[in-house]
Amino acid sequence: MAGEISENLHMLSSANVTIHASQFPENVRRDLLASLCARRVNHKFLYDSVKQTQKWLALHQAHSPTRNDADCQAIYEKSFAAAAAQIKSRRVHVIGLGCGGGQKDTRLLKWLKHRGQEVFYTPCDASLAMVLTARQTALAVVPEKNCLPFVCDLASADDLHKILVTHHPSLVTFFGMIPNFEPEQILPKLASLVRPEDLLLLSANLAPGENYAAGMKKILPQYDNPLTRAWLMTFLSDLGIERRDGDLRFAIENSRCGLKRVAANFYFHRPHRVEIGNEVLHFRAGEAIRLFFSYRYTPERVCRILTAHGLKVRERWIAKSQEEGVFLVYRGGASEERH
Ligand SMILES: C[S@@+](CC[C@H](N)C(=O)[O-])C[C@H]1O[C@@H](n2cnc3c(N)ncnc32)[C@H](O)[C@@H]1O
Repeated sequence: MAGEISENLHMLSSANVTIHASQFPENVRRDLLASLCARRVNHKFLYDSVKQTQKWLALHQAHSPTRNDADCQAIYEKSFAAAAAQIKSRRVHVIGLGCGGGQKDTRLLKWLKHRGQEVFYTPCDASLAMVLTARQTALAVVPEKNCLPFVCDLASADDLHKILVTHHPSLVTFFGMIPNFEPEQILPKLASLVRPEDLLLLSANLAPGENYAAGMKKILPQYDNPLTRAWLMTFLSDLGIERRDGDLRFAIENSRCGLKRVAANFYFHRPHRVEIGNEVLHFRAGEAIRLFFSYRYTPERVCRILTAHGLKVRERWIAKSQEEGVFLVYRGGASEERH
C-alpha cells in the first residue's frame, strides 16, 4: 500500500519539502506567543501566510531597488559573475538562506550553469509559501532532483551547521536578511555555515551618504508608505486587530554596535484582547507592539561587523544610489584561491 501511494505521489505535480522542527506547529505557536508577550514580533511572522507572501512580493515589486533600479540590478549581476568565477569546482550547491521568492538565487544559479557547473539548490526560508515559490522559480535552471527545499527558522534552529552540509562547495546567499536580525543573534550562526571552501554572498540596504543620520532620514519614506503599511497590518488583522484600533508609526532608532534602524510600532488606541488557543493576551491603550525593524548599515559597518565574526569581505559592489550593496565574503583564514 505504502509503495502504491508513493508511486502515485510521484506522478502528481508535487514537491518534497523538508520541514525543520523549528517550524513545527507547536514551536511556531510558542514563538508567536513569545512575540506577543514581548511586544516584539519575530520577522518570520510577517511572511507566514499566502496573503502576507503575496503582499510582500507586491511591495518588493513596487519599492525594491533590485526590481526598479537598473544600476542596483547590475551590482547583483556583477556579484553573481564574480562568485561564479571564483567557485571552481564542477558541482556547486547554492543555499539560499531566507530565499524569499528566489529571484536573486535563480539569477546566480543561471550564472553558475552558464559556466558549465552542475548546480544544486536548497531554498531555505521560514515560510513554506516562499520556499515553494523559490523552488518553482529555480526549476527553470536546476533539475528537480537537485532542488532540495527546506523550511526552517534560521534564528531558533541551532543545528543548521550539521544539516546544511553539502558534498560540494557551497555558495551561501543571505540577500536582504542582515537588516532584519539582531547582528549578535544571526552572525555567529551565519559564520558557522560558511566553511573555508565556501563563499557567502550577502546584500544589505544601506544608509546613503557621508552623514549616517541624514542618510537614515532620506530612506525613511521607503518604509512609511501604503504598501508597507498594508503588509505589516496583515499580521495584526489576522489576530483581529484593525487599523482603527491604533496607530502604526515609523521611527529611526539608535541601536547597539553604533547601528541605526527603522522600526515600525503599532500603538493601541484602546484596550485589546487576543486569544491564541486557550491563551489570552491583553494590550492596554497606549501600549505599543513592535512589528518590524530594518538595520541600515554603511559599507564600512558591514565589513566591520562581519570581520568581528570571522568573515572577511573579498569584494563589494555598491549601487550608485548608495542605498544597497552586495558583499562577497569568505571565512577568514581561508586561502584566497577557491577550488
Ligand atoms: C526581506 S525578505 C528577503 C527575501 C530574498 N532573500 C530577497 O532578497 O528577495 C526576508 C525573507 O526572510 C524570511 N525570514 C524571516 N525571518 C526568518 C527566519 N527567522 N528564518 C528563516 N527565514 C526567515 C522571510 O520569510 C522572507 O522570505
